[in-house]
Order: sequence, then structure tokens, then C-alpha cells
Amino acid sequence: MRLILLGPPGAGKGTQAKSLSERLKVSHISTGDLLRDNVKRDTGLGKSARAYMERGDLVPDELVNRMLVEHLNSFGPQDGFILDGYPRNLAQAKSLDTILRGRGMDIDYVVYLDTSEAVIIQRLSGRRVCSACNINYHIKNMPPKRDMVCDKCGRPLQQRVDDREETIKNRLVVYLKEVASLIDYYEQRKKLVRISADDDAPVVLNKIIELAGRA
Ligand code: AP5
Repeated sequence: MRLILLGPPGAGKGTQAKSLSERLKVSHISTGDLLRDNVKRDTGLGKSARAYMERGDLVPDELVNRMLVEHLNSFGPQDGFILDGYPRNLAQAKSLDTILRGRGMDIDYVVYLDTSEAVIIQRLSGRRVCSACNINYHIKNMPPKRDMVCDKCGRPLQQRVDDREETIKNRLVVYLKEVASLIDYYEQRKKLVRISADDDAPVVLNKIIELAGRA
């Protein structure tokens, strides 16, 4: 199974991708997580990407495409994955096609997580992330058992630097500028499936699993 999760910031791409990868036994590839890891380790890529990410702008395609190619080098032609946060624009979608074709792979579905603006703001402003193991929480929707502490590893939870109000606004502007061409592209290829993502996470998960069963 090879899925792309497409949707605005806060749609629940990361939350769903983590659950799906466990249920479907396939890898979760998040370009946001890969980039944040590079920023944390202060690699060359991290140094180049940091300012874009803090502003809520897209990191240049050439950097992200190269990072993805390197990541996919360990995948065999039969391996499945859930792509979260990539592609972000038409150029990345075309680049992904070339990368996958070269490996004898294709995408089964592109799941568009349709989310209202009020829900996006509520989710992003309440999101907290474990500083060590990257697990996502939400102060109201998915709170940790102990206040501001990760259930799994006991480390402190943090707010992502790009979840500040001004940056959220810019991320939405960037998303809206690019998403229509991506939707057109995958609709034309008959890959796009729309799912309402305003529902609770388990409800959304079941809808995607049902879809995956049809592939
Ligand atoms: P990235 O990390 O990909 O961020 P994003 O796309 O903005 O998406 P988010 O991670 O904010 O949201 P999500 O949809 O995963 O929601 P989540 O599951 O966390 O990218 C960050 C930056 O990296 C970009 O701005 C860019 O600079 C760069 N970048 C990344 N990829 C790139 C690329 N391909 N090209 C160029 N640059 C790139 O959920 C949010 C919150 O809601 C959580 O608290 C969660 O607990 C809660 N929640 C989730 N689902 C539900 C639900 N159903 N009900 C209730 N609460 C829920």
C-alpha cells in the first residue's frame, strides 16, 4: 500500500500516518519530521531549511527532493509507505512520479483530508509535541496523561516553533496557493479520494483503512 496524505496544516496528516503505518505495517515518511530532525542535528540541510520552516514557507524543492530520494534509497520495489507532507506543489508531484517510476513503484491513492479553517486553528494552537520521541498531543483533543509530559518517554512536551499564530497564517497562505494544482493533478490521474477530516481521529482512521482495503 502506498498512500499520500494531502491536506492543510493541522488536518491530522501526521496523526493519521502514524496510526496507519502501525495498522498497515508500512513506513511513515514525513518530510516535515525529516527536516525537523536535520534542523535539530544542525546538518547542512538543517541549516539551509531552518529559516524557511520558521517562517512557514516551503523549503526549496531541490533540497526536499534530494532528501526524499536519499530516504527512499533503502526501499525495495515491494515496500509500502504513507507519505505525509510531500508532495507540496506540482513540481514535487512530478518529481515524485519520476522517482517512483525509476523504482518500479506507483501510488495507490492520494487521500485529501478536507478540514475546515476553524478546526485547523484549534488543532494547531493546541498541538504539543514530545521533544524526544516526536509523538503529537493536543491539550484538549488528545491530552497526555500527565500535564506537558510525554506518555511514552516522560520527556517534556513543546509547542512547535511554526505553531505560532503569525506562522500558522503564512503556512495556510502557502498551502492554499499550491493545493489546487495538486488536487487537479491527482484528480486527472484518478488517484484522489476526499475524506472529511473534521471528525475524531479514530473515525478518520477507519475511513482511510476502508479505502486502503479497496486497493
Ligand atoms: P509539516 O511538518 O509537514 O507540517 P504541515 O503540513 O504544516 O502539517 P502539520 O504537521 O502542521 O499538521 P498535520 O496535518 O500533520 O496535523 P497533526 O497530525 O500534527 O511541515 C512543516 C514545515 O516543513 C513546512 O511549513 C515547510 O517549511 C517544511 N516542509 C515540509 N515538507 C515540505 C515539502 N514537501 N516541501 C517543502 N517544505 C516542506 O495534527 C495537529 C493537531 O491536531 C495535533 O495536536 C493532533 O493531536 C490533533 N489532531 C489530529 N487529528 C485530530 C482529529 N481528527 N481530531 C482531533 N484532534 C486531532
